[in-house]
Amino acid sequence: MNEHANPQTLSERADQLEEQMMHQLGERIATKSVLFNMGDGKVKMASGPALKAANPDKYFLMGADPRLPKMPAKPTLIDFFNNRFASLNHLLQSATHALKGGHSEKVVLACLLHDIGVAGFIRCDHGYWGAQMIEPYVDEEVSWAVRMHQALRFFPDPSVGYEYPEMYIKYFGADYKPEPYIVAEYERARNHKHYMTSRMITVNDIYSFDPNAKVDLNDFVDIIGRNFKQPEEGLGFDNSPSSHMWRTLMWPTRFL
Ligand SMILES: [Fe+2]
Ligand SMILES: [Fe+2]
Repeated sequence: MNEHANPQTLSERADQLEEQMMHQLGERIATKSVLFNMGDGKVKMASGPALKAANPDKYFLMGADPRLPKMPAKPTLIDFFNNRFASLNHLLQSATHALKGGHSEKVVLACLLHDIGVAGFIRCDHGYWGAQMIEPYVDEEVSWAVRMHQALRFFPDPSVGYEYPEMYIKYFGADYKPEPYIVAEYERARNHKHYMTSRMITVNDIYSFDPNAKVDLNDFVDIIGRNFKQPEEGLGFDNSPSSHMWRTLMWPTRFL
């Protein structure tokens, strides 16, 4: 059928947009946060009253989204790796590289966790988000390193053979310059006692993009066990300063 044969009216198109912003899951309605819609270039969210008026017999989703992998009642870091992180391979390759390089368990864990901000949450400022998520559960050397790799990856360190990544020239253009806040962060990080831990994230990071590399999360279960303080109540339910972040990852389409 020719799509022009039956042009949509404006209100039909508005309805379709509204439909794209929510999903009906049986008796529940899952909604998108404003941030999800901003990813499509729109600052908007579905209006609660309008959605409810259009679906008077349905309630909004206030828990697990049945379209996503099921999380256990007391989720561990491993559960998030298996059910909520989108690109495991890069993290595992980076950590494997650090392990083979004979680095300390803190460096290996920092490499394993360095991009969970991207893998599970958001790209922008992912080092900061990732560090905040893990801060209550790891040595401050590890969270500091994850936070600072955000800035350090843009600056070479010839003393350990780290060059500005070729990939960034391809990705961002040859004339890309990090913002002043990143430059200032780098300046602060350079003289910090944990500088080298964060630097090692960047060193192990750039070799970590082989889609065929054989890696296994099981190789890191012991290191996680010794270096990540898994809360008994489960991540998200332990009343830590980052519990809400883990819950949001678990229930990203909850209405509130
Ligand atoms: Fe990163
Ligand atoms: Fe990375």
